[in-house]
Amino acid sequence: MSTFKAPKGTYDLLPPDSASYLAVREAIAAPLRNSGYGYVETPGFENVELFSRGVGESTDIVTKEMYAFTTRGGDRLALRPEGTASVLRAALEANLHKAGNLPVKLWYSGSYYRYERPQKGRYRHFSQVGAEAIGAEDPALDAELIILADQAYRSLGLKEFRILLNSLGDKECRPVYRAALQDFLRGLDLDEETRRRIDINPLRVLDDKRDDVQKQLVGAPMLRDYLCDACKAYHEQVRELLTTEGVAYEDDPKLVRGLDYYTRTTFEFVHDGLGSQSAVGGGGRYDGLSEMIGGPALPSVGWALGVDRTVLALEAEGVTLDLPPATSVFAVPLGEEARRVLFAKVTELRRAGVAADFSYGGKGLKGAMKNANRSGARFTVVAGERDLAEGVVQLKDMESGEQEAVAVESVVDVLKGKLDTQARTAQ
Ligand code: HAM
Repeated sequence: MSTFKAPKGTYDLLPPDSASYLAVREAIAAPLRNSGYGYVETPGFENVELFSRGVGESTDIVTKEMYAFTTRGGDRLALRPEGTASVLRAALEANLHKAGNLPVKLWYSGSYYRYERPQKGRYRHFSQVGAEAIGAEDPALDAELIILADQAYRSLGLKEFRILLNSLGDKECRPVYRAALQDFLRGLDLDEETRRRIDINPLRVLDDKRDDVQKQLVGAPMLRDYLCDACKAYHEQVRELLTTEGVAYEDDPKLVRGLDYYTRTTFEFVHDGLGSQSAVGGGGRYDGLSEMIGGPALPSVGWALGVDRTVLALEAEGVTLDLPPATSVFAVPLGEEARRVLFAKVTELRRAGVAADFSYGGKGLKGAMKNANRSGARFTVVAGERDLAEGVVQLKDMESGEQEAVAVESVVDVLKGKLDTQARTAQ
């Protein structure tokens, strides 16, 4: 039998690289936890309707990319292609919006699924960390979210990302713009599919990457010129807050997102080292989504940052994260008696919070020391029959190469002391 491979468009996260994924998730979550966002977790699948109504019937995500299926019981479900609709569904279902404490601020982290054409940075299974602030219309909330994403990226050491900002207007001004854009687009020389898109989702035509289309789009009406006074004033306030807080952004009047629920503020974080899949994160306001999925009017805003692409961005910038070593102490027993003694010491170290590991499988000194080296441990504890007869173990500093005999009873305390000193000098 041939061995199994991970399905097309997916990959496994394995040590040591998996450590940077965890660190990225953690770095994105930290500013959210620190800003009043509570953790939410929803199922990996939902009723397919939630996404077709929420994300939009005309989007690529719903029409081409959703993993939709019928269960044995006859339910139509879909693996979640994104998090916003699910999180809002969960908040509505639990009546969080009625607890009188708006906005409801939630963050999440998990797997998402889109049946896309796989390429570097574009997978069929990928990870996002996201945040949603539900039930408040306040430019400071939009600004808060953008500032927190910026803070997360900076805390990781990323520098070469840009923030693109736009306003998509609201239910007053966008229909007027939409009609004007449709008029303009109908006068162009476009293929069948693109012509169909003019009727269903004309704003997406602006996003067409093909040169011949882009050339014809010169002179297209811009949404910016159609924004109503309320949308203009709102957008101006978001921009001002970002500027005051020193968060640089670029106005991108052509920024259209791939999901239909957006109103007013929309933004994308792009990284220039990533080639065609340059969006590392994106989000915006979705004031009408709650009503679209059967809830009350709840103006909301949020974003999701892609963990996979953020890791690629780190690689592109050559940033190596300063991760604590997985193992601080590695124990190498030589003989049965030493196995018993050192196993107990490793357990004691772990219970004291010291990251410790053990040489399993009865390896000889050479093989065991190789493992000790690979573990990245700063200290190795070696003990053989003769050491134990003298009541000592050999403690080796793997950085300096120095070795000393330490009494068996005091080795845990000595190690704790040395690791403390090392941590203090590293600060
Ligand atoms: P999105 O722009 O579709 O927005 O996805 C956000 C991020 O997820 C992207 O910028 C990208 O980093 C990552 N991503 C998306 N698709 C893939 C893929 N196939 N492979 C790898 N990474 C991918 C949303 O999902 C919205 N729910 C964001 C939001 C939250 N808006 C409001 N609240």
